Amino acid sequence: MPLTGLAVSLAAFAASTAPEKPTFSNDVAPILFDRCVSCHRPGEAAPMSFTSYQLVRPWVKAIRDQVVARNMPVWLADPHSGSFKNDRRLSQVEIDTIVNWVSTGAPEGERQMFTLAAKADEPGLIEAARLLGAELTALSLAALNAQVGRILTPSAAARARFGAPNIAEAAALAGAGEGGRLIGPRLKADGATCAVALSSERPILERR
Ligand code: HEC
Repeated sequence: MPLTGLAVSLAAFAASTAPEKPTFSNDVAPILFDRCVSCHRPGEAAPMSFTSYQLVRPWVKAIRDQVVARNMPVWLADPHSGSFKNDRRLSQVEIDTIVNWVSTGAPEGERQMFTLAAKADEPGLIEAARLLGAELTALSLAALNAQVGRILTPSAAARARFGAPNIAEAAALAGAGEGGRLIGPRLKADGATCAVALSSERPILERR
């Protein structure tokens, strides 16, 4: 049964000036997920995907050049006709964040993984944490159950076996803390299930 729950929490950064030493996990991934990944993912308009650090890494200089030149994100509306609800243009802080990140070697930063305590000794999870260079934190059943109204994919299997509404999404949300949000429903592949949540201890980057 594919119940190897795995949750990664990325922290969203917020500031009115760009961080001097941004990392992918804390600072850049939230910008890319917000502004670029709608096109830069499999099956969408752009020819390359920006859905993970590994996929982004070969493109970092091109990304910097495109955002500095304000070529990306592709923006077809007239900038003089007012603001738009789905305005994907980058703020100066976001552009500076990407520039600082690339000029300091485009580091990946820290990742945190969270799972249910009852699963924390599964060899697959321990190996995944090692491969991802992430610290694995075990959470209580109560912490996962507290997320019941916020998960996207209720799991009958997780309910029956562990008494939790689902493992990956609930653990990611619990790990991300109050105000955290899932970037999408959990993904399953090869017997592993993974969900990613952004923490918003601080508000998301300012928009202009
Ligand atoms: C509306 C869709 C869309 C969005 C949003 C978008 N892109 Fe793109 N991007 C494309 C397409 C299509 C291409 C390939 C065609 C081209 O090169 O013009 C591309 C190409 C690129 C390239 C490669 C340019 C090269 O050197 O060949 C980079 C780098 C890039 N995008 C970065 C970004 C970044 C960073 C963001 C977010 C800030 C972003 N894109 C948002 C559609 C998009």
